[in-house]
Amino acid sequence: MAELVRLQAVGKQYEAAGPPALDGVSVHIAAREAVAIMGPSGSGKSTLLHLIAGLDRPTAGTVEVAGVDLGGLSEKRLAVFRRAHIGIVFQFFHLLDDLTVRDNVLLPARLTGTPGRTARGRAEHLLDELGIATKADAYPARLSGGERQRVAIARALINRPELLLADEPTGAVDARTGAQVTQLLRDLNRDGQTLLLVTHDRALAESCATRVIELSDGRVTGERS
Ligand SMILES: Nc1ncnc2c1ncn2[C@@H]1O[C@H](COP(=O)(O)OP(=O)(O)O)[C@@H](O)[C@H]1O
Ligand SMILES: [Mg+2]
Repeated sequence: MAELVRLQAVGKQYEAAGPPALDGVSVHIAAREAVAIMGPSGSGKSTLLHLIAGLDRPTAGTVEVAGVDLGGLSEKRLAVFRRAHIGIVFQFFHLLDDLTVRDNVLLPARLTGTPGRTARGRAEHLLDELGIATKADAYPARLSGGERQRVAIARALINRPELLLADEPTGAVDARTGAQVTQLLRDLNRDGQTLLLVTHDRALAESCATRVIELSDGRVTGERS
């Protein structure tokens, strides 16, 4: 199966002194997998996700996504690459408050220059599938946590990324909404979306992931299918 993510001996040292946030991490993810990264707070989960997203750079090792060595890209090319290939969902949604739901979802498509008609069609379809079509003209402040996370997922998917990353996507919503988000992510993976989740949430990991990687103090300490 095509390999989508390849981390080789990745290290990340934020500060010269002290232990590294990541140390010798090698992870391979094939297309259509759903991988969950689990581990205690501070174990390096978000750091790992940020490196794969090209939001930050490793201090050792290499990160390849879709066959591209991210270390070889300038900041500008990295941003272009990320918009085209990677969707990201954060714990606290990171929606823009002064844009409507529709315009939040459309933003990444506008940034990549997707023709307006195509983008609007995709946005309508996603909002519909995620059950928030009636909220298209609302502003994020008027939505519940679960609705906001669904908007964030729609925004992450608008450019049809090969890889969807999610950092604690159920971390800031109630249990019932968490279950809905879990179901949604599982359905996306069943339809072929490659997924990498970082989570504390065992229910999320167990129902979504085809593979779980355990991280502890910046190292991979276990892996199970
Ligand atoms: N921007 C940063 N600057 C300095 N240290 C950081 C930064 N981000 C994370 N760290 C440190 O790196 C370690 C791993 O953090 P993180 O990846 O956020 O862990 P997790 O997501 O598993 O809770 C922690 O010790 C954290 O304090
Ligand atoms: Mg984190």
